[in-house]
Amino acid sequence: MRLLIVGGLQGQIGAATKIAMDRGAKVTHAADIDQAMAELRNGRGADLVMADVTLDIGRLVRALAAERICTPVVACGIGTDTRRAVDAIRAGAKEYVPLPPDPELIAAVLEAVADESHQLIHEDEAMTAVLKLADQVAGSEASILITGESGTGKEVLARYVHRKSNRAERPFISVNCAAIPDNLLESELFGHEKGAFTGAVARRIGKFEEANGGTLLLDEISEMDARLQAKLLRAIQEREIDRVGGGKPVKVDIRIVATSNRDLAEAVKRGTFREDLLYRLNVVNLRLPALRERQKDILALARHFAQKYAQANGAPFRPIAPPTERLLLSYAWRGNVRELENTMHRAVLLAQGAEIMPEAIRLPDGTQVGGTSLAAQTGDLSGPVKTAVETAQAATRSLVGRTVADVERDLILDTLDHCLGNRTHAANILGISIRTLRNKLREYGDAGLQVPQPGETRLAG
Ligand SMILES: Nc1ncnc2c1ncn2[C@@H]1O[C@H](COP(=O)(O)OP(=O)(O)OP(=O)(O)O)[C@@H](O)[C@H]1O
Ligand SMILES: [Mg+2]
Repeated sequence: MRLLIVGGLQGQIGAATKIAMDRGAKVTHAADIDQAMAELRNGRGADLVMADVTLDIGRLVRALAAERICTPVVACGIGTDTRRAVDAIRAGAKEYVPLPPDPELIAAVLEAVADESHQLIHEDEAMTAVLKLADQVAGSEASILITGESGTGKEVLARYVHRKSNRAERPFISVNCAAIPDNLLESELFGHEKGAFTGAVARRIGKFEEANGGTLLLDEISEMDARLQAKLLRAIQEREIDRVGGGKPVKVDIRIVATSNRDLAEAVKRGTFREDLLYRLNVVNLRLPALRERQKDILALARHFAQKYAQANGAPFRPIAPPTERLLLSYAWRGNVRELENTMHRAVLLAQGAEIMPEAIRLPDGTQVGGTSLAAQTGDLSGPVKTAVETAQAATRSLVGRTVADVERDLILDTLDHCLGNRTHAANILGISIRTLRNKLREYGDAGLQVPQPGETRLAG
């Protein structure tokens, strides 16, 4: 986690720096907006910018947008300065942190941005086998493709590979190819030269150069468009990149790890992913099993999360009661580790008494997980056929008379609720691209419907 502090933070710069460093962040300082922009352009990137509220936050946010630098900004000021706080948020700051800095608040902000618990918990043999392969290839320079359903821990595994590699002391830089629009992604990856487009007032170093000597994680690579795929292929083959608007190529020394929760071979067949790029990326394939395929991990992870969230919420630690364990083991966990993590977080908040009882295991909307059988949840028809047919009939009956657009909207919004607003996860379950999902959500938002934001559901009170 790299933090860039801009301005004097009204005399609190020392305190804020210390708190952030105690939490493991690397901190750099810039005196003003111009110096901050220079830092960010030069590849000394940051995951978060903390700016003094007395600076022109609007100007900073606009400069970042104009130069296509996707780094969130948090404004800091003395607590009573509400006028300025409101202005900063209006100007595009993600948060307002009052000064003097509160360690818990700074920690929460850092965590929200970085979500930096990279611990990899495992107990199941299926997972041990994957890690053994990861250990074997980590030290090599081979590109690695990590595949697995959404929420299985692909990013966690990518960081594990980096930690075990000879590049561990060098940067680990991750780019989410699905979250950044195509036209911005090119600059994000390859950087640009001054004058490359309106707004490019100076040279900007991209993630490839920033990760030089280290590992570059290309997250959700299947979402990259054809032109960028070609450019990426060249970067991997030639070990050099072209900045946007740049005249001559720049040498880079990078280990690439890519992730995908779509079947890339299938994408090649459909013509949406280059076959030659797939071969380059897929020198080694680490396939993460779904959580339901590693039963021992379910309990190991559940205990880990119960502990983690008790601590984070200042709640007493409660062990998981045996009937609760049976319930957790019988559930299908379609959202994998992420769903289990969210469920255990809720359970910690809902639990009363000495142990976490089955009543505390609930879906995001508050309904209790009833211990539906794995077969029913995965659509396995080997169960009682009559029930399956009846269920299907009941489902279609309630659909007849409704338009496709109507049903589609309900399905999309309900799925998004189920995923606590997580777009990537929802798109995955729905089998549509994240871009299609975003377009649909924009449509619904424009029509005045309530669209769950990341981390929330429409039903939560
Ligand atoms: N083995 C593990 N030990 C501890 N936490 C884990 C483990 N695997 C996953 N997690 C946690 O589960 C969540 C999802 O993990 P991660 O983001 O790596 O999944 P992903 O496969 O990249 O998901 P997506 O496809 O949605 O991007 C994270 O909060 C991560 O910390
Ligand atoms: Mg991921």
